[in-house]
Amino acid sequence: MASFASAFIFLLIPLLFQFPSGESGIEVNYYSESCPRAEEIIKEQVTALYHKHGNTAISWIRNLFHDCVVKSCDASLLLESASGMESEKATSRSFGMRNFKYIQTIKHALEKECPATVSCADIVALSARDGAVMLGGPYIEMKTGRKDSKISYAAQVASSIPNHNDTVSTVLSTFQAIGIDTQGTVALLGAHSVGRVHCINLVQRLYPTVDPTLDPDYAEYLKKRCPSPHPDPNAVLYSRNDRETPMVLDNMYYSNILSHKGLLVVDQQLVSDPNTYPFVKKMAADNGYFHDQFAKALLILSQNNPLTGDQGEIRKDCRFVNIN
Ligand code: HEM
Ligand SMILES: *[C@@H]1O[C@H](CO)[C@@H](O)[C@H](O)[C@H]1NC(C)=O
Repeated sequence: MASFASAFIFLLIPLLFQFPSGESGIEVNYYSESCPRAEEIIKEQVTALYHKHGNTAISWIRNLFHDCVVKSCDASLLLESASGMESEKATSRSFGMRNFKYIQTIKHALEKECPATVSCADIVALSARDGAVMLGGPYIEMKTGRKDSKISYAAQVASSIPNHNDTVSTVLSTFQAIGIDTQGTVALLGAHSVGRVHCINLVQRLYPTVDPTLDPDYAEYLKKRCPSPHPDPNAVLYSRNDRETPMVLDNMYYSNILSHKGLLVVDQQLVSDPNTYPFVKKMAADNGYFHDQFAKALLILSQNNPLTGDQGEIRKDCRFVNIN
């Protein structure tokens, strides 16, 4: 009887590990047999690109967010508009996204080694992971085996990705819906420690009157950088979110918002909202704690609802669905 029960448990354990809830079908080292150097190749390419165009590493982190919160981590973000299908990239929430062409560089290196084997969705995930390391962030072990969608979900972008001026409660509920709690959400916004913001996303805080949650001296500086209340969206100047360490994924972002130097409304509100404020304080005080929480939250984000097994496909070109 006892041996029957233990045999039963031993049969059950592998089943449980095979299908952990929410991330079924992806696993650590999915390409160990089919393309053993896959993760190494992605890391090499991300590193080489970073040394040529530093801001690619920044783009890979934003890509993961914009791909994974819209339905799933399925590289739907990367599809170009095609007959009857608008691209997620082309929607207004994706404004300012850049460096998509260098996804081709990474994909090309993978295709050379293992044709039609490594998904674009896994490139999105692993390039974000490796990009974070290039920017001085934490290393995150990630599972692989995501498949690529055949559809871009442009119509779902606006309801999945918050706007720059949305309330904290909207932002919190967006992330809660995919299993990321308040602490994790505050940590993820720390991605705004790197990269740029176009004037068009912040002039509402400067004109006609200065947003009272903005430090007055900082507002004067921003007005010089963004002198027109109606900036040309294509020819805008931009400011770094974090003037002290603009290329480092660190907790300076939290010190800045505590001193009222957040660029976007969504950044600054983390300080005004009593639900998020305590986490801002903790993250500002401890970079290691920020990195731990960022790593945890980015991992959850990277495992949102992946396509696996027979679902989707392995795109040969990340911009287009395969022609069969
Ligand atoms: C949930 C609320 C969020 C909102 C409303 C938001 C909004 C924005 C906006 C408006 C920009 C500036 C675009 C421009 O003017 O060029 C931006 C940049 C950026 N966002 Fe977010 N974001 C959010 C969360 C996140 C998360 C969770 C991540 C990643 C984990 C992220 C990563 C980035 C990065 C890296 C940039 C800089 C991109 C570059 O310099 O090319 N954001 N975001
Ligand atoms: C948020 O900004 C957009 C422009 O990006 C504007 O159309 C909208 O009215 C703003 N919403 C709020 C609540 O201020």
